[in-house]
Amino acid sequence: MAETPLADRRLAVIGCGNMATAIVGGLIEQRLLSPDQVVGHDRDAQRQAALVESRGITGADSNAAAIDDADIILLAVKPQNAEEVLAEIGPAVTDSQLIISILAGTKTALIESHCSGSVPVVRVMPNTPALVGCGAAALAPGRHAGEEHLALTRAIFDAVGISVELSEDDLNAVTGLSGSGPGYVFLFVEAMIQAGIDVGLSPRASHQLVAQTLLGSARLLLEDSAQRTPAELREAVTSPGGTTAAGLEVLRHEDFGGIVRMAIHAATERSRELGRGK
Ligand SMILES: NC(=O)c1ccc[n+]([C@@H]2O[C@H](COP(=O)([O-])OP(=O)(O)OC[C@H]3O[C@@H](n4cnc5c(N)ncnc54)[C@H](OP(=O)(O)O)[C@@H]3O)[C@@H](O)[C@H]2O)c1
Repeated sequence: MAETPLADRRLAVIGCGNMATAIVGGLIEQRLLSPDQVVGHDRDAQRQAALVESRGITGADSNAAAIDDADIILLAVKPQNAEEVLAEIGPAVTDSQLIISILAGTKTALIESHCSGSVPVVRVMPNTPALVGCGAAALAPGRHAGEEHLALTRAIFDAVGISVELSEDDLNAVTGLSGSGPGYVFLFVEAMIQAGIDVGLSPRASHQLVAQTLLGSARLLLEDSAQRTPAELREAVTSPGGTTAAGLEVLRHEDFGGIVRMAIHAATERSRELGRGK
């Protein structure tokens, strides 16, 4: 295996669900880790077996057995299972190990409080496009995490998309924006597909055209050689008195932008509430 930040590191995955499967898959496909560097445990034996069989990683009999010998521990259970997992593994984690948590709303201070010593913790808010290698993740260090720990975490999440480094206070906003973002996009897509059907297209044709329009627009946004802003890209497809102008006029009149901003504010606030245990 080539020299990478993860060379010779052992990764323990606690919870082998959707996100863990996406992350482990990305790491192995990108050859950042080989299967024998990864061990996983899930209380759902079928979930664990699925990841073990699909990726060739090692399955452990318990969370405690999984973290024994690991350099990096990826916490990938649901937030409501955080306390039970931390009560089980916290006392056994040492300062030379790194905990990476993707648990929404679970503060690094809570994780640190279950560990003795100065265990480094990095909190990450990924999103589901990580399943297809196009995730957007934000990461924030806990009290004892340094540059080396952030670099290791970035190497992991860059394998399934992109990552940005922020402060922990920003993660509620990230949850409301890119964590929940795929949900908003899919609602918009559902509405576009239905509108296509309403104006006479078959469901299949409408679905294909909308999905490709979304992909093409995202690629223009990311790859446009002139690096045009979203507003410039919009203006480039809008002729005065034309079809796009007619459609945009309705969206503006109904305050589409204001509705999107309200949705992101609501999701950000909900993330804050969840962090306070509400
Ligand atoms: N999915 C997203 O869009 C998204 C985005 C950002 C962040 N996240 C975060 O990612 C985390 C994982 O989400 P996910 O969608 O991958 O969840 P998931 O598919 O439900 O996977 C979690 C797995 O952990 C297992 N588990 C629960 N308690 C356990 C324990 N004590 N020991 C070992 N395994 C245990 C669960 O088993 P049971 O089914 O038996 O409980 C389940 O198989 C969550 O904390 C979420 O906040 C998710």
